[in-house]
Amino acid sequence: MRIDILTLFPGMFEGFIHESIIKRAIEKGLVEINLVNIRDFTLLKNGQVDDTPYGGGSGMVLMCEPVVRAIESVKTDDAKVYLTSPQGVTFTDDVASQIYHETKHLILVCGHYEGFDERIKNFVDGEISIGDYVLTGGEIPAMAITDCLTRFIPGVIDEESFQNESFKDGLLDYPVYTKPREFRGLKVPEVLLSGDHKKIEEYRHSEQIRVTKEKRPDLLK
Ligand SMILES: C[S@@+](CC[C@H](N)C(=O)[O-])C[C@H]1O[C@@H](n2cnc3c(N)ncnc32)[C@H](O)[C@@H]1O
Repeated sequence: MRIDILTLFPGMFEGFIHESIIKRAIEKGLVEINLVNIRDFTLLKNGQVDDTPYGGGSGMVLMCEPVVRAIESVKTDDAKVYLTSPQGVTFTDDVASQIYHETKHLILVCGHYEGFDERIKNFVDGEISIGDYVLTGGEIPAMAITDCLTRFIPGVIDEESFQNESFKDGLLDYPVYTKPREFRGLKVPEVLLSGDHKKIEEYRHSEQIRVTKEKRPDLLK
């Protein structure tokens, strides 16, 4: 999968692409992540990419020209282009799965300041939100979306852990424990030490239902 991230702040992605699982996925050639600086596509002097809103009001608005030219610089025939926006479709596990299965080449555009000139929406396939709150920019949402989609790629993480993760089959994950067997009087459930794989599987499934009922009953509807 190829993901192009269009941003005014490519430096924010340094740690993201150079650490841990995402770094290894890139090194193994399982995902290609390209950072494109929107500022490189302005035709104005001094690298200007934003201006004040027509009609007045606070903040600066990202201009059409640099954003659309940046999109066009990476767009391929099978690319899907999404603006990051608090007004977009909420990014859930189902939305992630749909985008992953439909998209070989994803272009994510990070807004900043007051957001995008409305006319930019004519040049994209949609808008994605990571939740009902407002961040200062689209960089953290782009990282969240990229990270989540990368986990779908076979070989990035262990297949079994991927299948058992929260939200698969509408359930949350079961609780997990590691050494020691007892910590300050808190014991690991006996069944997990029994070596009986059938019993462990049944216990974990019942725990998934218990935890989901307790924390996210809405998922069971
Ligand atoms: C300060 S926000 C602009 C918010 C916009 N004025 C509004 O109220 O809808 C600046 C940028 O951050 C990004 N952003 C902020 N919150 C986001 C969220 N929850 N999901 C995705 N992107 C978000 C978007 O790219 C947005 O253009």
